[in-house]
Amino acid sequence: MVKIFRLKHIISIKDFEREDVEYILDEASKLEDIAKSREISDELKGKILGLMFFEPSTRTRISFETAMKRLDGQCIGFTSSGSSSVSKGESIADTAKMFEGYSDALVIRHELEGVSKFISDVVDVPVINAGDGAGQHPTQTLLDLYTIKNEIGSIDNLRIALIGDLKFGRTVHSLSQALGLFDNVKIYLVSPPELRMPQEVLIDLNKTNVEYEEVTNIEDIIDDVDVLYVTRIQKERFADINDYLKIKGAYIINKKMLEGKDVIVMHPLPRVDEIDTDVDDTEFNKYFTQAANAVPVRMAILKTLIKNNPK
Ligand code: CP
Repeated sequence: MVKIFRLKHIISIKDFEREDVEYILDEASKLEDIAKSREISDELKGKILGLMFFEPSTRTRISFETAMKRLDGQCIGFTSSGSSSVSKGESIADTAKMFEGYSDALVIRHELEGVSKFISDVVDVPVINAGDGAGQHPTQTLLDLYTIKNEIGSIDNLRIALIGDLKFGRTVHSLSQALGLFDNVKIYLVSPPELRMPQEVLIDLNKTNVEYEEVTNIEDIIDDVDVLYVTRIQKERFADINDYLKIKGAYIINKKMLEGKDVIVMHPLPRVDEIDTDVDDTEFNKYFTQAANAVPVRMAILKTLIKNNPK
């Protein structure tokens, strides 16, 4: 049977069925050799990707750019609102219309939830949400799932702890919703009471077969999980800096607490202090592999969306 990818835009992981996730992970596996051997395939020769980054990024922007170049395409774009004419008062809709005229797909990062969805309604090229405020980060989720599948062998039957800022951390919102597509998954939601997973995400989880439990201490669950998925406390999203300072440093993973455990450590990065650098040189560290996996996964996303939706 010929498999197809149904979606024109990647806005929310909630738009995905399990087959859509599996399609991208399979495509990424096929492209991994090109990514790892640092070769170029001509799949997107002559195509242009528009990168509209209103909010800072290292991994997402640079890995999308790398992915496009590995497929022989090119990139245009800006890296902050201040370096675009939005700073002169141009609307987001008009800015997106300009990019629609110049490029074959758009990648959007913005500090406000819903901006990628809004842009997908005003342009006729594929739109990819590269993180919208505390909302979603669906392409991060796809590379997280790719990493879990490669490292653990399967996403079904997974035992995972999501640790840290579950309130503002968009990667854990998308990831937990995606895990709802798989079988026999247990999620431990580890956070201070102030940073619990939002109710709307829990409501989505309640509609799936995922079992979840809210806990406060890592020690209570570390022996029961395959993956510790650690996140940064999102300082920039606190209205009052004192609330951030009270919680800062709540969870710090170090080598000593991992010794003897059958677990891997993942993190969407950037990290501040939540994983001690003494973990970097251990077999527990999969966060740098995870970041490198962004290239084949984003190659798969770009190839699929741009080839499925020619201008
Ligand atoms: N993981 C992630 O989104 O990193 P950046 O903010 O550096 O893109």
